Amino acid sequence: MCGIVGFSSHSQSACRPLVNGLLRLEYRGYDSAGVALESADDLRVFKKTGKVAELDRFLAEALPEPERGKYTLGIAHTRWATHGLPTETNAHPHLADGGRLALVHNGIIENYAALRAKLEKRGCVFVSQTDTEALAHLIATFDTGDDFMAAVSQALKQVEGTYGIAVLSLRHPGEMIVARRGSPLVIGVGEGSTVVASDVSAIVSYTRQVIYLNDGDIARVTPEGADVFTLDNVPVARDVQQVEWDAASAEKGGYAHFMLKEIFEQPEALRNTIRGRLDRTDGTAVLAGLNLPPRELATIRRAVVIGCGTSLHAGMVGKYLFESLADLPTSAEQAAEFRYCNPIIGPHDWAIALSQSGETADTLAAVRESVGKGALVSAVCNVVGSTIAREAGRGVYLHAGPEISVASTKAFTAQVTVLLMMALKLGRTRRLSREAGLRLCDEIAALPDLVAEVLKENDRIAAVAAKYAAANDMFFLGRGILYPTALEGALKMKEISYVHAEGYQAAELKHGPIALLGRATPVVALLNDVPGKEKTVGNVQECRAREAPVVGIVTQGDAAARHCDDALFVPRTSAACAPVVTAVALQLFAYHVARLRGCEIDQPRNLAKSVTVE
Ligand code: AGP
Ligand code: GLU
Repeated sequence: MCGIVGFSSHSQSACRPLVNGLLRLEYRGYDSAGVALESADDLRVFKKTGKVAELDRFLAEALPEPERGKYTLGIAHTRWATHGLPTETNAHPHLADGGRLALVHNGIIENYAALRAKLEKRGCVFVSQTDTEALAHLIATFDTGDDFMAAVSQALKQVEGTYGIAVLSLRHPGEMIVARRGSPLVIGVGEGSTVVASDVSAIVSYTRQVIYLNDGDIARVTPEGADVFTLDNVPVARDVQQVEWDAASAEKGGYAHFMLKEIFEQPEALRNTIRGRLDRTDGTAVLAGLNLPPRELATIRRAVVIGCGTSLHAGMVGKYLFESLADLPTSAEQAAEFRYCNPIIGPHDWAIALSQSGETADTLAAVRESVGKGALVSAVCNVVGSTIAREAGRGVYLHAGPEISVASTKAFTAQVTVLLMMALKLGRTRRLSREAGLRLCDEIAALPDLVAEVLKENDRIAAVAAKYAAANDMFFLGRGILYPTALEGALKMKEISYVHAEGYQAAELKHGPIALLGRATPVVALLNDVPGKEKTVGNVQECRAREAPVVGIVTQGDAAARHCDDALFVPRTSAACAPVVTAVALQLFAYHVARLRGCEIDQPRNLAKSVTVE
């Protein structure tokens, strides 16, 4: 999720390289930062919430330049909270072994609660709410003082979930152990010093000679470089490679824009969203933020899903999911409309606030309105500890990682996936059978791989986008659960390419909008092979009768492609999962049109990433 930097040298202080590395990682978004500095006999930890600059100032006062020289080994972290509020106590590094061991971690330790219970029974004293602290104590319990890497390996073998870590201990002066599974780590081999980071952008200003660790690797880092092993202590050869990027492009991981990076992050983001939340025995979902007793869940009479922009579109998908999977009457409300209409909502209603940032003013006001009227309120946010998450009091985090680009992409697919799991959980307290629940679990678990299949179509989608990039008007048509997805596709197109794009219910076209169609107005029709497709094929034929070119979103292998001028193919899914795979194709389509039109993309004109004002 967020940032790690490590530095090891014989003579150079680690202080400045660590802080500079964190500054290079700032673009990723985070809520707190910290460093641990080691000299022969001393381990110092400095942590701050807020910006890296505040940590830097704090460090300058607490450890003036003259005192820094002896600390030639260190680790640092920018935190993107997943477990525990963004506070100084929860910031990394985390300590164990009486302050002799310091650990920084990226990722999610799924079984941290069980590990923590075991460790507390052994007398370990925890100070934070994080999952990470459990790993720090676990390593300490294995550390007998002779083989640090063996202690770390044994601990990691007990971890379920994802990690990228760097760890130091005064029992092993001068040694840094790093390891990864599911969170990236790169080792930069310099002249007389070695830099470790979660992102090559924090390394390239020191050296372009890097070693990319693979999942399952663990390495002992010294000023001369790194020796890499498996967790079973089998040496592995990892070549030193030359980084071709400069620091600026490295921040985007080699992608031209953050938006494209985040579109391509979706398989991993969805794996993190789903991780630990499917019960494949009972065919239901395990959502800590929705851990109401079934009896309470069963008394909910109506759901109201509230949001703005992309989050509203996800909420509209949620309406179809809750009604089809949980038989729960559901409405999707635009937050500003909701907050000012003196809404009819009360104790038997469930208000679900969707917000990637967790700070959108209208959505926050809608949460307060719902709380004030006694509704059950949940938040679905990406930013842990955000205002909406805190004021809702309960909810489900996306765990999608920082979303930098103004145009929301991975947050949408993650929101829809969370709503799928919520509908599954609710449905299983109602009429959804265990067999149907198990089938839905399989479908949800398959989504990351299905999204990866759509991403493989990128070049083909770019080629189709090139045919329509000059259009100044576009229609996006969808039916049923694909209607909100059509709205989302139109919003992406509007936001980043400035094309006047409108999303419509397919059946609505002939009630007026068709008057606008002609050769210059391409129509993107969502023709996934799900119920209603044939009717939408009819709408497509109405468009083509007006000579409007049609780009179809078509299920792989489906004959509907023959009704379109061009087709973008998506994997076969049920209707419930179709919005996730379809949205990815529409994101890429909008991205390439915007790119071909020479638009800014990551910071579109007039837009802000989080609308914290009315
Ligand atoms: C989506 O691409 C836009 N950036 C915008 O519509 C956004 O979804 C909306 O402002 C809501 O933001 P939130 O999810 O952070 O509440
Ligand atoms: N899960 C850890 C925490 O919440 C690490 C988060 C991160 O990757 O920044 O502290």
